[in-house]
Amino acid sequence: MIPFNRPALAGRELDYIKDALARSRVSGDGPYCRRSEALLREGLDTERVLLTTSCTHALEMSAMLLDLGPDDEVIVPSFTFVSTVNAYVLRGAKPVFADIRADTLNLDESRLDQLVTKRTKAIVPVHYAGVGCEMDAILDIATRAGASVVEDNAHGLFGTWRGKPLGTFGRLATQSFHETKNFSCGEGGALVVNDATLVERAEILREKGTNRSRFLRGQVDKYTWVDIGSSYVLSDVLGALLLAQLEAREAIQNRRRRVWERYAKELSAWAAARDVRLPLVPSHCEQTFHMFYLLLPNLERRTAFIEHLDARGVKAAFHYVPLHTSPMGRRFGGRAGDCPVTERVSDQLVRLPLYADLDEADQMKVIEAIHAFE
Ligand SMILES: Cc1ncc(COP(=O)(O)O)c(C=O)c1O
Repeated sequence: MIPFNRPALAGRELDYIKDALARSRVSGDGPYCRRSEALLREGLDTERVLLTTSCTHALEMSAMLLDLGPDDEVIVPSFTFVSTVNAYVLRGAKPVFADIRADTLNLDESRLDQLVTKRTKAIVPVHYAGVGCEMDAILDIATRAGASVVEDNAHGLFGTWRGKPLGTFGRLATQSFHETKNFSCGEGGALVVNDATLVERAEILREKGTNRSRFLRGQVDKYTWVDIGSSYVLSDVLGALLLAQLEAREAIQNRRRRVWERYAKELSAWAAARDVRLPLVPSHCEQTFHMFYLLLPNLERRTAFIEHLDARGVKAAFHYVPLHTSPMGRRFGGRAGDCPVTERVSDQLVRLPLYADLDEADQMKVIEAIHAFE
């Protein structure tokens, strides 16, 4: 069976993990976490990066940092992972579901104005598949609304939009190092803090509401409870795993690029002849090769396609189930028909196996299985 995803080892992971264990320093913010944060900060050219236990937790921190609560509205795409929305709902804020563009499957900036109200406090674009959202328009609407932008950049680490790194447009951005992401430590994430005024409080929220970070830097002689917060610090064992991956950035991205480009080349004629659409990457977007998806004509064809691949030993996956029509989304007023592109794409989309270790022979098996689908 060719799996949908396989976490790729880049080389030095086991050495670093052994070293972290040998130092008897495995809790958070140890040397490996520090070096990972430094690499991310340099790569993104930003104020501060704080490693977290997941992207979900980084999103939760963003909701706390922006003081979102009841009476506040947060505009989110319906076509996303549940955490993009749940983080704000947990604080009592109301999600307002936006539709996506039919071409990139990113937040449709042309419809945002209609969703803005006096209560809009945040807009959360997701750079789907690591292809940048139209950030000038989104930032402009947010500024006019007096709202903050939080980029959910779970797919987009080291991608750019008009030459600027994804994750550096909003006041805050979040990253994921979950097993399925380009760079992984199993479960992990980061909060990217682009607004210097939010850094100190972000450190506090991540450290259970204490000023322990200042204590560790010798800035106070004891630490104490100063705010709300939770336990969002990543262990240094996972930091060691992550550092090995981040140091192999070029190799990992090149391998994923080769896989992505081979799919695009080998499938374009097949897709064009069958009304199947391949991913669109606008020329001003440098993508991350996070995923390769196909849009089949309809749900029936998509189901048959996944079964066809499964019978030939290839695991393909689909996502996302629209959030606005989910049981929870309906409680916030979501109705079928509110986000027509999301509803259609959710029935059509299928993701092909894509991981750094997918070798040419196995990938050709996937491609041949696809070619055999009529
Ligand atoms: C767009 C998006 N946001 C957030 C997350 C949550 O990431 P994590 O598993 O690191 O919490 C995911 C995970 O797949 C995602 O795809």
